[in-house]
Amino acid sequence: MSSFDETEAIYVRELGIDDIAPIYHLGEGLFTSDLYPYLYRTWDEWEVIGLYNTDPEYCLVAETGGELAGFILGTIITKASWTYGYILWLGVSPKYQRRGVADKLVDKVVARMIEDGARFMLVDTDPTNTSALKFFNRKGFGNIRQHIFLSMNLSKHEYYGRLIDYEHQKAERAGYKRSRPAIRARKPDSVANEVVLNPLAGESQTTEDQSPI
Ligand SMILES: CC(C)(COP(=O)(O)OP(=O)(O)OC[C@H]1O[C@@H](n2cnc3c(N)ncnc32)[C@H](O)[C@@H]1OP(=O)(O)O)[C@@H](O)C(=O)NCCC(=O)NCCS
Repeated sequence: MSSFDETEAIYVRELGIDDIAPIYHLGEGLFTSDLYPYLYRTWDEWEVIGLYNTDPEYCLVAETGGELAGFILGTIITKASWTYGYILWLGVSPKYQRRGVADKLVDKVVARMIEDGARFMLVDTDPTNTSALKFFNRKGFGNIRQHIFLSMNLSKHEYYGRLIDYEHQKAERAGYKRSRPAIRARKPDSVANEVVLNPLAGESQTTEDQSPI
């Protein structure tokens, strides 16, 4: 049985400093790598910290009964004479889903974006994220355009793979040299101590930076 009280109000407010960690952890459970397999959409603490820093007016949380129920993080993009509102992250705790939390968060952020000149809204998600697609369709988002990502494993590429091997060898050579005690002519003790403190001093860099290719 759900512990949610249907009559409990959903309260939307701006994100505060103390919300950063709870939002990050809620997002960790929602924005999983199968939904967001692309680096440009990787959920990490910088998404919350960064947007809180740059776009605090479009970073909102929903609370119910004093508990964090969900959040929305957005930004505004201005291109030529057009202003777009962009919803970057929207997440609702599984405990509070299907109760209108996202609905309230989106309404509030869109109202703020309209106030700031937005006349278009953008959002993106994985094509398999049916709950989000249904949600956004119901809110009026449409005109779906698919975007294709291409990727390449550099290690398996004929040319770039050789560059990677070269970088590995360079790092190994540097590590090997650094782990060896510097061979130097005998010096008075004070100078010898300096060598121990700074074992890299005097190492030649001349051949290191020459690419084999
Ligand atoms: C998508 C998400 C934000 C929706 O939040 P929510 O608070 O549950 O949504 P709401 O209750 O305001 O929305 C209700 C409507 O959205 C649609 N919807 C939401 N979740 C749905 C689901 N699991 N299956 C089908 N439709 C769903 C329905 O039309 C629903 O209306 P109904 O309950 O009357 O059928 C939430 O499921 C979530 O956090 N998902 C994981 C993160 C994510 O994918 N975020 C979006 C991209 S950034």
